[in-house]
Amino acid sequence: MNIDTHTAVIVIATYNEAGQITAMIDTLFKEIIPAITNWNCPVLIVDDTSPDKTYEIVQNLQQKYPNLHLLINPVKLGMGNAITKGFHYAMDKLSADVVIEFDSDFQHPPQDIPKLLVEIDNGYDFVIGSRKIKGGSVPEFWSFKRKFFTYVGGFTSRFVMFFTFKPFFQVTDPTTGLRASRVKGFVDHIDLDHLYSLKFGYKIELLFRMIQLKAKFKEIPLQFGLRETGESKIAKDTAKDILKVSILCRWHDEFTQKFLKFGIVGGFGFVVNTLGAKIFKGILIRPNSNISLLNGICNALAAELAIISNFTWNNVWTFAKEKITSPYQLISKFITFNLSSLITGVVIPSVVIALLTSVFGDKLFLYQVIAIFGLTIPLNWFVYNKIIWRKK
Ligand code: GDD
Ligand code: MN
Repeated sequence: MNIDTHTAVIVIATYNEAGQITAMIDTLFKEIIPAITNWNCPVLIVDDTSPDKTYEIVQNLQQKYPNLHLLINPVKLGMGNAITKGFHYAMDKLSADVVIEFDSDFQHPPQDIPKLLVEIDNGYDFVIGSRKIKGGSVPEFWSFKRKFFTYVGGFTSRFVMFFTFKPFFQVTDPTTGLRASRVKGFVDHIDLDHLYSLKFGYKIELLFRMIQLKAKFKEIPLQFGLRETGESKIAKDTAKDILKVSILCRWHDEFTQKFLKFGIVGGFGFVVNTLGAKIFKGILIRPNSNISLLNGICNALAAELAIISNFTWNNVWTFAKEKITSPYQLISKFITFNLSSLITGVVIPSVVIALLTSVFGDKLFLYQVIAIFGLTIPLNWFVYNKIIWRKK
């Protein structure tokens, strides 16, 4: 083999596909793969011991095509299980540099395979066929229900996983079955053995992990065809499975977890501030106290207590991964934290509240809510992430 030739393994899961598996394998080895000059393209069929004996047909074809491989799973656990077993085999036994997910039923045009590889050659790490960009399509004759699920389901999972970040705008077809993924630095960094779903939902998780790993991502148009023979294996609970996986991906994402903890710590800080002021007042009040001065002092003390609480809990919990430990750093960061709290929590909101009042009249409570949610919280989040607990 040419030393420059890399290996792209075409992984096809099959279950009861005896009707067309021969045509597909012939097409791949006679028309598609010979035209790809700069890639070695083994084909790996992962069959779940199909009752129609698809695997026996493949075994016979192996005499004819030495680059045809077969992995037989003893039980049917689902497409995600089949594909990930196939990925392991492709990486461990076939030295895959790229893995291509493909279907056996001609709904993905085999002519799209070289197009995926061209984009990999162009430097992309993750290339998918999209039915939703210009040039892509779903079958005209599809039932309204199926179209509805593809569009609304796809959009929902895209929204749940990515909104408002860049991938939300980039990934138009998250459930597509046609994809090429680079192994080194990407697929080899994904824990394929503990996926949220072994069924169709695995597609969503692999997509999410690839994007998380910062894969350079590209979509090419996919004209999804009608199935030639046999029947769709897509189960009735697929929409639910896909939604479940989308939610789990987003929920366990580092950003989500950090933001939730940041919110809880902030909420607790608010309680410390209000309750603390009351407690200080109870301790400090005297029969002849100047109440205005006392309230001011109690609020200042409680606010500082809240700042200490926020700093501590964010340091040990929210930003545990970026935890500040050295005494010098602790002091300098704590000073910065105090200053920034003063600016984002007092100076900026107060100025904005004063401005709003002069323009729109006296609605203090409303302006406070706007200032806290619109300014203090986002600004704090920004300062904590970019300055105080900046990732190394
Ligand atoms: N080994 C194995 N085990 N293979 C399976 C299983 C399974 O449990 N379930 C499905 N397959 C195989 C089928 O034999 C076929 O080759 C391929 O996976 C795709 O299955 P289809 O039954 O043709 O799925 P579909 O066309 O309805 O679903 C399409 O849309 C999905 C959602 O948009 C495909 O393009 C999917 O890839 C896509 O995720
Ligand atoms: Mn299909």
